[in-house]
Amino acid sequence: MIIAAVALPFFAALFVAAAPDRQLCGDAGDIADKFPSCKVTATPGPFQPALFNVSKWIWTGENPVPGGTNPVGVRALRKSIPTPCGKCAVHATILVASDNTHVFYVNGVEIGAGAGPKKGQVLYAALQPSSNLFAIAGGNIPPGGAAGVIATILIHYADGSSETFITDETWRTVPSAAPPKGFQLQAFDDSKWGFAALQGIYSKSRWGAITLPPVLSFDNAKWIWSSDHKNGVAPKGVRAFRKTINECSKVAVSATVLIIVDDSYTLYVNGEKVGAASSYTSSQAWTIPNLHPTFNTFAINATNIGGPAGVLATILITYRDGSNQTVVTDSTWKAIQNVQKGFELPFVNEAEWEDAKIVGPFGVGPWGKGVAIPLA
Ligand SMILES: *[C@@H]1O[C@H](CO)[C@@H](O)[C@H](O)[C@H]1NC(C)=O
Ligand SMILES: *[C@@H]1O[C@H](CO)[C@@H](O)[C@H](O)[C@H]1NC(C)=O
Ligand SMILES: *[C@@H]1O[C@H](CO)[C@@H](O)[C@H](O)[C@H]1NC(C)=O
Repeated sequence: MIIAAVALPFFAALFVAAAPDRQLCGDAGDIADKFPSCKVTATPGPFQPALFNVSKWIWTGENPVPGGTNPVGVRALRKSIPTPCGKCAVHATILVASDNTHVFYVNGVEIGAGAGPKKGQVLYAALQPSSNLFAIAGGNIPPGGAAGVIATILIHYADGSSETFITDETWRTVPSAAPPKGFQLQAFDDSKWGFAALQGIYSKSRWGAITLPPVLSFDNAKWIWSSDHKNGVAPKGVRAFRKTINECSKVAVSATVLIIVDDSYTLYVNGEKVGAASSYTSSQAWTIPNLHPTFNTFAINATNIGGPAGVLATILITYRDGSNQTVVTDSTWKAIQNVQKGFELPFVNEAEWEDAKIVGPFGVGPWGKGVAIPLA
């Protein structure tokens, strides 16, 4: 398979050049993708927001009046989205809101849960190449009243193109009944179900406009720099930072990176340039659609033009099994003061690198909590 063909030379190179203390996955066959994989030609780039405002509120139609009162209970809604011919689905950004609650499933796996019609929730999920099943268990809690779910699913294909799907009247549902066992599974037969009923169109509905969530949050991330950051200031100059995620038990698919650097940076993933920026007040979000299945190196070239300096980042990795992992900047990152050519490559001997120094948690001065974060 494509993954194995790519992975074997990659690992052969690693065994020669890797630092001896680095954990590797051994036989790449162990981690080979269970699903036929996409050959991803898409490259890393700016995060693309999903358009929540083109979506529709839907429910079962138990009350034929859109936005009308519905019985208390949990209802199943689902939609199978086949990948168009010639495309290969890689990952999705999903925005969802509900009156009152929702549990969201992709291909049978719960990927997130939330509540409330006013604030959107963002979820990230790896997809299967040729067809994906999206399912929602929506809840109408006592005393009942209006009920609905709304979602936008932005599917990214292997060739770098993308397509927006929404909750609408093509979703399947079962009125007046709790979700049948296994309703969230791809193999479940919904051909005898009914179709969802429109409850309102985004902001024209009774629920009004929905607040968009940030792409990711910085809440658990720490501002880091090299050890020569002292008394709130760092010497002028270039420093580099690295973090390698070597997860052997599951297949990594995509990553979303939220980052801000005082004063400027270039971000690399597995040696490939992702993007650059210079602002200590606004962060940037990037999407990496082409992770290696088990071994991914995030590297940052950061420049301080004087005064305080810091790197603050949150990374969310999606895995083939539907799970995700959040990685934040902290003292497990490596830092180096003498930045050499090739610092960003996957297999660098990190013996000369120091543990990154924590300047402070997100929220600490001089940056505070006011850092601007792009919306999902
Ligand atoms: C939805 O929002 C986008 C981005 O803010 C905007 O460009 C677009 O015109 C909006 N579309 C609708 C249908 O409101
Ligand atoms: C990450 O996974 C957890 C556990 O399944 C889930 O609750 C959460 O919603 C996921 N986060 C995102 C942003 O998809
Ligand atoms: C790091 O970034 C600085 C500023 O853009 C640049 O001058 C320097 O060449 C870069 N270093 C490496 C090793 O890429």
